[in-house]
Amino acid sequence: MGAGKSTLGAEVAERIGRRLVDVDREIEATAGDTIPEIFRSWGESGFREIEEEKAVETLSAREPLVVALGGGALRSDETRRLLRERATTVLVDVNVETAWDRSRRSDRPLAQDEAEFRRLYDERLPVYEEAADVVARDADDVVLAAGGVHVHVGSLELLGELLPGAGPAALVADAHVAGIYGADAQLAIGDRLGSTHTVPRGEEAKQASVCERLWQELRLDRGGIVVALGGGCTSDVAGFAAATYLRGVAWAAVPTTLLAQVDAAIGGKTAIDLPQGKNLVGAFNWPARTVIDPALLETLPESERRAGMAEVVKTGLLAGERIWELPDAELVRRCALYKTAVCLRDPHDRGERAVLNLGHTFAHALEAAAGYEAITHGRAVALGLRAALRLSVDHLGLDQAVPEDVERVLAPQPVAVDVDRAWAVLRRDKKSEAGRVKLVLLETRGKPVHGVELPAGDVRRALESLVVT
Ligand SMILES: NC(=O)c1ccc[n+]([C@@H]2O[C@H](COP(=O)([O-])OP(=O)(O)OC[C@H]3O[C@@H](n4cnc5c(N)ncnc54)[C@H](O)[C@@H]3O)[C@@H](O)[C@H]2O)c1
Ligand SMILES: [Zn+2]
Repeated sequence: MGAGKSTLGAEVAERIGRRLVDVDREIEATAGDTIPEIFRSWGESGFREIEEEKAVETLSAREPLVVALGGGALRSDETRRLLRERATTVLVDVNVETAWDRSRRSDRPLAQDEAEFRRLYDERLPVYEEAADVVARDADDVVLAAGGVHVHVGSLELLGELLPGAGPAALVADAHVAGIYGADAQLAIGDRLGSTHTVPRGEEAKQASVCERLWQELRLDRGGIVVALGGGCTSDVAGFAAATYLRGVAWAAVPTTLLAQVDAAIGGKTAIDLPQGKNLVGAFNWPARTVIDPALLETLPESERRAGMAEVVKTGLLAGERIWELPDAELVRRCALYKTAVCLRDPHDRGERAVLNLGHTFAHALEAAAGYEAITHGRAVALGLRAALRLSVDHLGLDQAVPEDVERVLAPQPVAVDVDRAWAVLRRDKKSEAGRVKLVLLETRGKPVHGVELPAGDVRRALESLVVT
């Protein structure tokens, strides 16, 4: 009571693209009466019965929702069971003074007397803490919680507590990452650790043969969980193995590269490569938890950091914030937050999620034409952003200061590739339709548009500007 659930609930619902169901409002709508009136006519126990019925109905809905639950709803065993099984339960952290201050002048039946209000607060708090998966202070916290994403310095140590369920865990890492963080992760997982598996370093991990070996090695039942510790290559193959093993077991991502913390470990896309191209076989499989410890970036080599920085700048442009100037922990959190919200709004990549492809149509073309070993993804994305921003200036009137800003941060060197080859790839891009290139451009900082079609000549010239011959 007085925690601000309804306001917060509305903001979160808007940000993750779900409907808000405020159980108190639903009760009033169904009863055709206000809660004080229902208390007067039926007593508190009568109200609790109606409340339980509404809460159960809401928590059983198939549609993903944001639910604001009334303060006493947790007295019901059935409601608590459904929260455990079907919801991420967020306790909105508010002290008793603030809560009383907000509630005292209302007509809420249980907020008429301060001493009684405080007694109720003390009585309910342990019940709330028991039921809560996460304690949140603001809407950002709730959005991250809704995505199962935890960003905290030191969270690797808490991995055991953060893993959902109670079944055995299978830890997957490449040998290099296992050498640095494997023992800490094993210690944190504790008794639940069933087995540890090694995958090759880098893109070599994302092969069908590696996936097949994982399928054969895993000894999990449906209640088990795969834990991917490492960069985007490890999480892609481990997440895909988890999606397919026993028709799907849960997985958790513990990203250790900047790229994985701000991008690859969030949003539920998993994939392996084919000789015909990258990421051609995969699954949408949202990790049950993503545990991000920005302190793990301390051991990351500079070249890997640069690769991630291109995605950070991309995210900053999309979000309209200079995220790249923030210290690591905050930078990672802002990026994770942005990607989580977009992906929750469009989990299966049918619309708005396309904005995450800013700069990537050009990047993929350069990577394919150069051969993936010859150019890093980070450099390709930095160049791709240059092209996308120039086109945005020319066609959408984007402020020229935006590309200048990006140049200062990323300063990518043009690459030596065959322009005709890159152009052919660009026109066949996954996001193109019938040979017509669809681009993501930026109208202003924080306002991307996707599906933009431009004259082929202009797009080709933008591509040419990224290439040295
Ligand atoms: N699924 C998605 O949504 C998504 C999004 C973006 C990228 N990706 C994929 O991610 C992959 C690239 O990810 P990546 O760059 O993280 O690659 P990666 O997993 O190969 O890691 C890069 C290298 O850094 C090392 N490393 C990792 N963490 C370290 C640490 N903390 N300290 C020292 N060394 C460390 C690894 O051993 C590896 O050699 C690509 O295959 C890409 O397709 C997937
Ligand atoms: Zn990328």
